[in-house]
Formats: sequence, C-alpha cells, structure tokens
Amino acid sequence: MRLSIIFPCSLLIILSLLVPHQCITPSEEKPVDIINKTCNTCASKASSNFSYEFCYTSLDAIPVSHATNLGGLGLIALELALVNATNTISIISNILNKNDSSPRCNNCLVSCLELYLDISLRLEECIDEFVSGKKHDILYLWVSEIMQATTICELGFKDDGKVSPLTKENHNLSQLCGIVLCIIDLISPHLNSWF
Ligand SMILES: *[C@@H]1O[C@H](CO)[C@@H](O)[C@H](O)[C@H]1NC(C)=O
Ligand SMILES: *[C@@H]1O[C@H](CO)[C@@H](O)[C@H](O)[C@H]1NC(C)=O
Ligand SMILES: *[C@@H]1O[C@H](CO)[C@@H](O)[C@H](O)[C@H]1NC(C)=O
Ligand SMILES: *[C@@H]1O[C@H](CO)[C@@H](O)[C@H](O)[C@H]1NC(C)=O
Ligand SMILES: *[C@@H]1O[C@H](CO)[C@@H](O)[C@H](O)[C@H]1NC(C)=O
Repeated sequence: MRLSIIFPCSLLIILSLLVPHQCITPSEEKPVDIINKTCNTCASKASSNFSYEFCYTSLDAIPVSHATNLGGLGLIALELALVNATNTISIISNILNKNDSSPRCNNCLVSCLELYLDISLRLEECIDEFVSGKKHDILYLWVSEIMQATTICELGFKDDGKVSPLTKENHNLSQLCGIVLCIIDLISPHLNSWF
C-alpha cells in the first residue's frame, strides 16, 4: 500500500522533470544543423571577410539545404552563385539600356558585363566539375578567379571615381564563392565520398 502511494508519486516527480525537458528538446536542442555547423566552421577558418550571417541566410533560404550533406551544400552555393550571376547580367544590361544622364562609368559597366558573362559560363563548368567530384583543385582555382573577378568589377568604378551600382551583387557573389571555397577545403580529402 505504501509502495503504491510512493511509487506513483515518485513517478509523477520524474515525469514532471522529464516532460518539460522533452518539450524543449525538439525546438532548442535540434540535431546539429548542417548549415549552422558548416557556416560556423567556415567563419572560424576562412578569411576574415567570411560572413556567418550571409552564409546562414543564403543557405537557409533553400529548404533542401537542411537535409543535405557538405557536398550538397557546396552544390547549392554554386547554384545560387549561378542564379545570382545570371541575374546580375540582366541588372547590368538594364542599367546600360537606361537612357539617363546620371554620371556613370559605361566602360566599367561593359567590363563588368563581360566579366559576368564569363563568370556565368565558368560557374556552369564548376557545377559539372563539382558533381563529377574529380578535379577539385581546378574547381578551387576557378572559384577563386570568380571571386577575384567581382573585385575587379568593383575596382573599375572606384578607379573611375564613380559609385559602383553593383556593390551588393559583387559582394554577394564573392561571399557565395567564399562558401564554396571553404566547403571544397573541408571535403577535398575525400571529395568522392560525398556523392
Ligand atoms: C548555431 O550554432 C551556434 C553554436 O554553434 C548556436 O549558438 C546557435 O544557436 C545556432 N543557431 C541556429 C539557428 O541553429
Ligand atoms: C576583404 O574585404 C576587403 C574590403 O571589403 C577587400 O579589400 C579584401 O580584398 C577582401 N579580402 C578577401 C580575401 O576577399
Ligand atoms: C544579397 O544577399 C542577401 C543575403 O542572401 C540577400 O538578402 C540580398 O537580396 C542579396 N542582394 C542581391 C542584390 O543579390
Ligand atoms: C540570389 O538571387 C536570388 C534571385 O534573384 C535572390 O533571391 C537571392 O537573394 C540571391 N542570393 C544571394 C546570396 O545573392
Ligand atoms: C536617349 O536620349 C537621347 C537624348 O536625350 C535621345 O535622343 C534618344 O532617343 C534616347 N534613346 C532612347 C532609347 O530613349
């Protein structure tokens, strides 16, 4: 009789300790998020320009990112880069086609347009290369060159004493390249095993 009283009581206490805990676990202690983990790792090991915030928001916007592996994240970042570079091409074309008299550097815009046309072609090659998972040293070089191209585009305006209308686009593409470079670094010892 005593036991039957004590037992349910202790069980209640145990349950009262367990239940709130179990309610919290799924939301606050969710299994390590691959995006979070990758962006954190890259923010701590990549260049000081690497933005955790940018990395997280860019990848988080793609739902499948949460259910993939490191290689998948690299591919998503490359595909985002391609979409954005393509988008930038039309942004530049629109600016060039606009008939306004505001001071602008048309030569710079034309150079950037050429750079971005090359970039988008190269990004398509990067995606093929990444999927085939073989020559990651070439991929690393290509993505580094794309990153440099965004700086060249940006500097063109600066050298001409003009405000760049493409700062955000250049910065975003550079950041996306930073994510890809970091991921290549992280997986290159066993690149093939990720696919
Ligand atoms: C990301 O990870 C950090 C620690 O590594 C943690 O403090 C933070 O709450 C996590 N953020 C998300 C959105 O999961
Ligand atoms: C970091 O950003 C600064 C200015 O924002 C730039 O001058 C520099 O080249 C960048 N470094 C890398 C490695 O991208
Ligand atoms: C740059 O990236 C941020 C973060 O992903 C996004 O919110 C913003 O719309 C992007 N801007 C451009 C011009 O691509
Ligand atoms: C890339 O482009 C898409 C579509 O234009 C945009 O929604 C997204 O914010 C951009 N992301 C980055 C990181 O620039
Ligand atoms: C651009 O402006 C010039 C002079 O203001 C005008 O002669 C020309 O027709 C305009 N072109 C377009 C495409 O609107």
